[in-house]
Amino acid sequence: MKSNVIQIIAAVFILASCQRTIKPDVYTRFIETGNQIATNAQAALLANVAAAIQQGGPSYAIEFCNLKALDITDSLSQVHQCSISRISAKKRNPENGLKTATDHLVWKIFETNNRTDTLLLAGNKLVYYKTIKTAMPACLQCHGLPVTDIDSLTIARVKQLYPDDKATGYALNDFRGLWKIEFQLE
Ligand code: HEC
Repeated sequence: MKSNVIQIIAAVFILASCQRTIKPDVYTRFIETGNQIATNAQAALLANVAAAIQQGGPSYAIEFCNLKALDITDSLSQVHQCSISRISAKKRNPENGLKTATDHLVWKIFETNNRTDTLLLAGNKLVYYKTIKTAMPACLQCHGLPVTDIDSLTIARVKQLYPDDKATGYALNDFRGLWKIEFQLE
């Protein structure tokens, strides 16, 4: 417990020192841009998943997300000339794991604290992170408790497509993941 607190305090200091090297006007501009892109991407995913649920229920929508979620974020990345991803320590798709040391630091802080977003300098990239919460009851149809929230057909489809799935057991408004939006600096 004590070492956990020390780790979090250390992480807060490291993050603060990464932020200090970003000029205030650049910070404000990229926080706004990052937030806007995350909001657009969230809306695009939500519209697609809602349409898929309407068409064939949550088990069909699982297959749709499996095929399309990364395509949707990739094509938005091209439009906005940045790299958009969703990451989580409890991931469904193995490609969406925490990758860098900074991802782990940000995760540690955001999971224990009510921060919603941040912008950091990592090498020659600005990286914007924003909290993703299971903010709607619809999220629980695929990330809630098996049986109670997720129907058996959907559970079976998840197991089939994601044998290593860690992304169930969430309640409404739980911390589920992070948007990670990387901007390459010249
Ligand atoms: C129809 C089922 C379904 C619904 C509804 C759903 N998700 Fe997901 N979610 C998935 C699938 C499937 C993946 C894996 C996508 C992939 O393969 O890229 C996923 C992936 C994610 C990820 C990326 C990290 C990971 O675990 O791979 C986040 C974050 C996420 N969902 C959050 C949410 C939130 C928040 C909501 C509600 C607004 C939601 N999901 C609603 C099925 C769903």
